[in-house]
Amino acid sequence: MAGSDRLMRAVRFHEYGDPSVLRLDEVSRPQRGEGEVLVQVRAAGVNPIDWKFRSGQLRAFMPLELPHILGLDLAGTVSEVGPDAAGFAVGDEVFGRGQGAYAEYATALAHSIAQKPEALSFEQAATLPVGGVTAWWGLFETAGLESGQRLLVHGGAGGVGGLAVQLGRWKGAHVIATTSTRNIDFVRSLGADEVVDYSASRFEDGVHDVDVVLDTVGGDVTERSWRVLRKGGILVSAAGMPQPERAEQHGVRTSGVQAPPAIRPILDQLAALVVDGKLKPLVGERFPLAEVEAAHRASETGHGRGRIILEVSD
Ligand SMILES: NC(=O)c1ccc[n+]([C@@H]2O[C@H](COP(=O)([O-])OP(=O)(O)OC[C@H]3O[C@@H](n4cnc5c(N)ncnc54)[C@H](OP(=O)(O)O)[C@@H]3O)[C@@H](O)[C@H]2O)c1
Repeated sequence: MAGSDRLMRAVRFHEYGDPSVLRLDEVSRPQRGEGEVLVQVRAAGVNPIDWKFRSGQLRAFMPLELPHILGLDLAGTVSEVGPDAAGFAVGDEVFGRGQGAYAEYATALAHSIAQKPEALSFEQAATLPVGGVTAWWGLFETAGLESGQRLLVHGGAGGVGGLAVQLGRWKGAHVIATTSTRNIDFVRSLGADEVVDYSASRFEDGVHDVDVVLDTVGGDVTERSWRVLRKGGILVSAAGMPQPERAEQHGVRTSGVQAPPAIRPILDQLAALVVDGKLKPLVGERFPLAEVEAAHRASETGHGRGRIILEVSD
């Protein structure tokens, strides 16, 4: 195949800046690298890291070659696969973490994607990779959350927090979550045992003896969380740099959420939980690919419910 058949629509930015730097361009489809598949993207998730890249706030640690196609969360159909990407065939419906998911075609390492169960729509599947893997790894591998423990999730309505609340509940923990007034019923419906409205009260006034804090908010919320932990408890931070010296002062532990060595096994477990009705994918606002600027503006408010989705192709 050659010429226009190999072109695709993709959202790129040619310079760092506000959401208006995002452009819908016509570009060549990406080349599949070693161990990768090419996916025809149906839906992509919008993560805060996407606009952090776009704004340039990460450029000192993770400089990008511009123009750049954003997007990690994807769901779609395998369009090309090589012998080095075992487990997939052309036509398979998959979801997972790719590179450049804000486009009609994106590459993904075979070990970073999984088969999409038929029961999940592409939009639902695209909510799971970054949020679900972060919640899973943060709660179960980093914190070692166990049944009966007390878990506090900051940002219980968000793309990470909403899945963390459900996973904590599934594990048998006592789940406490913070959120704003408009999301209280939503977070309760996810299975939280206690919901604290952060706009009406200070969580540290009523919450105590927590074994695990999963912090998806950061800043002042992190600082106020040390004292709600029991001695030896752990604060897992998805929204800032861990501060071991502060943790030590309070007799607790802290960690960031490291990248898991392979995410396919986690994606498989998340998908199985969804199929069993134990985990609800949380599709937030939806935008067509061409309205990506509005999608970024919505994400940047920091008050999303579930994962914002870009509808890439039918
Ligand atoms: N591997 C990693 O370390 C990793 C992976 C994924 C994400 N992250 C980071 O984690 C953070 C959250 O990501 P996300 O995808 O969940 O974002 P999101 O979908 O935008 O959700 C953020 C949530 O935070 C809530 N919130 C805002 N202020 C709050 C406060 N003071 N107290 C409690 N809740 C508050 C909002 O709910 P209300 O509307 O109710 O305020 C919103 O639902 C981002 O900084 C992201 O970059 C890190």
